[in-house]
Amino acid sequence: MQRRFEWTLASLGGYRFYQSRYLSAGGFLVRHERVEVDQLPKGLNGFRIAHLSDLHAGAFMREGDLRHVVACVNELDVDIVALTGDYVTHESKEIHRLASDLGALQPRRGCYAVLGNHDYYGQGQDEVAALFESIDIDVLRNRGARIDTGDGALHLSGIEDLSEGQRIDPQAARASLRADDVEVFLCHNPAKAHRIAEIGCALVLCGHTHGEQIVVPKSIPRPFPRHPGERLEFGSTTAIISRGLGAVGLPMRFRAPAEVVIVTLGETGSSLEV
Ligand SMILES: [Fe+2]
Repeated sequence: MQRRFEWTLASLGGYRFYQSRYLSAGGFLVRHERVEVDQLPKGLNGFRIAHLSDLHAGAFMREGDLRHVVACVNELDVDIVALTGDYVTHESKEIHRLASDLGALQPRRGCYAVLGNHDYYGQGQDEVAALFESIDIDVLRNRGARIDTGDGALHLSGIEDLSEGQRIDPQAARASLRADDVEVFLCHNPAKAHRIAEIGCALVLCGHTHGEQIVVPKSIPRPFPRHPGERLEFGSTTAIISRGLGAVGLPMRFRAPAEVVIVTLGETGSSLEV
């Protein structure tokens, strides 16, 4: 029902509107966030992460629509790309619409992803993960990845989605973590970001909320998950919640821009520009 509604809206001009308004060059926000880390190893000073989320291939997001986003990320010459879920909208086969765009990402040290709740619909999570692996995006399903600069290492810890994953295992995601690593945790849903922060990671990257996509007065019932804020601080842990790039339900956003987040790591107290 919702799928048919979306395709009807798309055919009535919604698709063209979303593409030109939010996905054109200059249509999406490039949000720069500097995250300070105590005793950051020299090799990670200035390390940059492009954080992309909630692409939602489907009626409003088709092949080629992310070309300006990809060009922007490539131009920024980031170290890694971190993707935090919801690549499809209703079914896993939609993922193939993203292959050519995401396959053109060229960060220095690779692309890493976790899955979002939509990616499990129809038990499609394995198809989504397989497509990503075929274009060299490392999907962290209760697994970690280390990026060693030679003077300090970043550890990415990724878990299955909190609501749709059958087994959520942060311990397994952290099994490859070493004592001096700077840990970045990838988790689609920000609902437990405060609990993840308790493990002492430097950064948590989340998506899921779309920034509520259409922000209305609080007295009106909201169709989207609650957005806790774009940036939260929990002691020495920063959580960045992306508003995402795609849309569900309606091909529009209001007071919730589509965005690419560029996170730059810096030593606490240093004055690195972002
Ligand atoms: Fe989403």
